[in-house]
Amino acid sequence: MLPSPPEGLRHWRLADAPALAAAWADPSVRLWNPPPIDADAPSWILRCEERWSLRLSLDFVIDVDGAVAGEVGLRNFTDEPARAEVGVWVGTDHRRTGLASQCVSSVTDWACTELGLDQLWCRTATGNHAAGSLFRSLRWHELGESDGRIVWSI
Ligand SMILES: CC(C)(COP(=O)(O)OP(=O)(O)OC[C@H]1O[C@@H](n2cnc3c(N)ncnc32)[C@H](O)[C@@H]1OP(=O)(O)O)[C@@H](O)C(=O)NCCC(=O)NCCS
Repeated sequence: MLPSPPEGLRHWRLADAPALAAAWADPSVRLWNPPPIDADAPSWILRCEERWSLRLSLDFVIDVDGAVAGEVGLRNFTDEPARAEVGVWVGTDHRRTGLASQCVSSVTDWACTELGLDQLWCRTATGNHAAGSLFRSLRWHELGESDGRIVWSI
């Protein structure tokens, strides 16, 4: 069963499939968050619970007025140390309104208290200045660079 979502976030619903497909098709989202190659949006949404049961990922909708404004998710779970990687995207119409800051902070706090994780980390492409600025503004620590990506943790 999927856990209750962090504050300000919700689970994916099948009715979100057109919005998810549109986001996956948006070049400014797919450039930094390549969509899955083996699933369409409805099937991907239907498998959210299965992915969580296998500890593959846990993905939440950033909802603004009942519509999908973005997504924040956790993946690459490990036990020792108890960590997960954070990923986030926000639709172009909703950027620079503080949504990513708010939702990354919310999922970070929630993952530590509700999932018992000790640490969150993420990777941003070196050319992705918006994402780098986001994690810097959230005071994540820059650990170094690997394969064209900056590794961050908190
Ligand atoms: C990166 C991204 C998630 C930021 O989402 P957002 O909701 O617009 O971010 P916020 O409004 O919370 O911005 C918080 C801070 O991040 C920085 N920031 C965000 N977008 C920025 C941009 N385009 N240029 C420079 N700094 C930026 C700023 O410091 C900003 O604070 P400010 O607006 O007070 O100056 C969004 O641009 C996006 O979805 N990009 C495509 C997907 C992606 O790159 N995901 C990250 C991969 S891990």
